[in-house]
This record gives sequence, C-alpha cells and structure tokens, in this order.
Amino acid sequence: MQEFTGKTVVVTGAAGNLGRATAVAFARRGARLALIDLDPDALQSAQNALPKGCESAIFATDLLDPAAVSTMIAGVMDRFGAIHVLANIAGGFAMGPAIHETTDAQWDSLMDLNLRTVFNCCRAAIPEIPEWSGGRIVNVSARAAVRGAGHMGPYCASKAAVITLTESLADELKHRGITVNCVLPGTLDTPQNRAAMPDADHDTWVPPDALAEVILFLASDAARCVTGAAVPVYGRS
Ligand SMILES: NC(=O)c1ccc[n+]([C@@H]2O[C@H](COP(=O)([O-])OP(=O)(O)OC[C@H]3O[C@@H](n4cnc5c(N)ncnc54)[C@H](OP(=O)(O)O)[C@@H]3O)[C@@H](O)[C@H]2O)c1
Repeated sequence: MQEFTGKTVVVTGAAGNLGRATAVAFARRGARLALIDLDPDALQSAQNALPKGCESAIFATDLLDPAAVSTMIAGVMDRFGAIHVLANIAGGFAMGPAIHETTDAQWDSLMDLNLRTVFNCCRAAIPEIPEWSGGRIVNVSARAAVRGAGHMGPYCASKAAVITLTESLADELKHRGITVNCVLPGTLDTPQNRAAMPDADHDTWVPPDALAEVILFLASDAARCVTGAAVPVYGRS
C-alpha cells in the first residue's frame, strides 16, 4: 500500500507542465486521478503518460464555466465516489502594459485564469470532500504574489489573491479536517520559459517534478497539521 492508495486526486491544468508532473507523482504513489484541462487531446496525451496500472479519467472542462465545473465534479463523483485531494494547478502568466494603460480585458483575463478557476473548482468540489478523511486542497500561487513588479500588475494581484483565498478556505475548513495550502513557485524549468529566456541560468529554476513533490507533501498525512500556508519554492533563482 502506498501513501495515496484509495485516494482520489483531482488535478487541474493536468495537460500543462506542472499538472503533468504532479499527476505522474501522485500516480506513482497509488492515487486514482481525475485529470482536468481544456483540450481533450492534450489531456489524452497526459493520461497516456501516467504509469501503467494507474486508475484515471480525463474531463475536458473550461474552469471558467461554473456549470461545466459542476458537471465535471459530478462526473468525478460518479466515476470515483469521492474526492480527497484537489490540486488547483491551472493558471498562467502574461506581461502587460503599465497599470494605467491596462484594459478591462487584460485585467479580467488574468484574474479569471488564476483566481476564478480556483474559486470555481473549490466551490464545486468542497461539498464532495469528506470530513476527517485526509481532505486536502493545494493551490498554486507564485513568488510574484509577494513582490509586485512592473508590467505584471494583474498577474501579481491575481496570484496574491490566491494566497488570501487559501487562508480563508483554510479557516473555513479546519474544523472539517480539510487542509488548504498554496505553493509559491519561482520560475519553473519549462520548455516555454527556456524559449522565452534562452540566456538565463536554467539550473537555478524549479523543475516541475521538484515542485510536484512539495504539492504531494502538502497533500500527505505528514502535512496534516499544516493549513493556510504559502510555501515558497524558489529553487536558486
Ligand atoms: N511556469 C512558471 O514559471 C510558473 C511560475 C510561477 C507559477 N506558475 C503557476 O504554476 C501553474 C502551472 O504552470 P505551468 O507552467 O505548468 O502552466 P501550463 O503549462 O500553461 O499549464 C496550465 C494549464 O492550465 C490550462 N488552463 C488554462 N485555462 C484553463 C481553463 N479555463 N480551464 C481549464 N484549463 C485551463 C492550460 O490550458 P491551455 O494551454 O489550453 O490554455 C494549461 O494546460 C500555473 O498556475 C502558473 O501560474 C508557473
């Protein structure tokens, strides 16, 4: 028996860099996986990359559509009967103009991508997480949440809001035995970041599988007394 045997883990952003690494890490520790992302083909490819014997299902879902998120959570319950861990990984980054030149669309886009996706998933999934059964929510914020930077205002604000949403959730759920934490990654070592910053020292970045291990720790029994935390995972950058 492994650490997550018998646990159902919902991973959003499961077709992306961190989502794939996290899904594989949970699968290696015995979890049943519900993989959530936008593109069904990308999800299928992520599912194909899971270790043999892992019980898994894919749910192509736009996390900005509350009705679609409810349908997805109902589908996960039909398939697996419970949700023990929700890893809210879907999100993204965009540079932009100065704040005073930022359009409503630019602001809304990052708030939706990084904050509303987490809100929609938590709202739909929490009623299905049984009390005192190792229930865990792990959100993905960013280092940029704790240090605003020029031309990144909506991104920094959206990720800062993920921290305070995490704290509110932790407070609401602590009496039900469900912990809620978030990670603050520095730059991840992804193909997209390497292409965008070819001259950076990639060795100082955070490999997605290293960050996945931190997410697994927060989802584990060992972290049962940790809730409301924002854990920096900056690598050496
Ligand atoms: N990469 C970094 O350096 C870095 C640093 C700090 C924090 N983070 C955070 O870490 C997380 C993962 O990053 P990553 O590099 O793995 O990103 P990624 O490769 O872009 O993966 C994110 C996934 O989320 C999906 N997604 C976006 N909007 C969605 C929606 N409305 N519904 C369902 N799925 C949606 C994306 O689908 P599409 O590709 O089809 O849009 C993508 O597959 C994000 O929250 C990111 O903000 C990343």
